[in-house]
Amino acid sequence: MNGVTVISHPLVQHKLTIMRKKETSTAGFRRLLREISTLLCYEVTRDLELTTETIETPMQTIEAPVLEGKKLVFASILRAGNGLLEGMLELVPSARVSHIGVYRDHDTLEAVEYFFKAPDDINERLVIVVDPMLATGNSAIAAIEKLKERGASNLRFLCLLAAPEGLRNFQDAHPDVPVFTAAIDSHLNEQGYIMPGLGDAGDRMYGTK
Ligand code: URA
Repeated sequence: MNGVTVISHPLVQHKLTIMRKKETSTAGFRRLLREISTLLCYEVTRDLELTTETIETPMQTIEAPVLEGKKLVFASILRAGNGLLEGMLELVPSARVSHIGVYRDHDTLEAVEYFFKAPDDINERLVIVVDPMLATGNSAIAAIEKLKERGASNLRFLCLLAAPEGLRNFQDAHPDVPVFTAAIDSHLNEQGYIMPGLGDAGDRMYGTK
């Protein structure tokens, strides 16, 4: 699928399989999510531009590679997105963090923002929006609308699992935003859960069910 990268690294696929198992405990799920998020972060940042800086090793002076330009924002869609943050921040400790809370109003079907916090210079940064599950795509679509309204223009979306229906909706709404996912599952069920999926990601990471 154009604009979608499936992260097929064997370690990602192995960890994802354990996360899917219904018998995996809350503690195990959380640990795996932190581990897998560092691997996903590695892939989503694979093509970041480098420049060079002059440094002195104990042996000689060299031009050595460093990341080019303005740094990153990791934008978490509440609440499950927070589960991906910890591992990503371990890899990129200097990244800024944005939190976005959106829900869909039952009557108007409009996305309502209940929380938004982001750095002021978001327009100058690469924004990697994270949410473990791209199901209908509605919250990802709404969160990215809110980020674009504040000036973000260089965006990527990172998830663990995506449903084909959600991917189509997302790409119709934001064709300029590449998607990175560990797997594309079969379909959404009538309740909007990804099948075969892993259940409710928020409940599994926080033990709320
Ligand atoms: N959100 C989840 O946590 N799980 C799904 O399967 C769909 C949406």
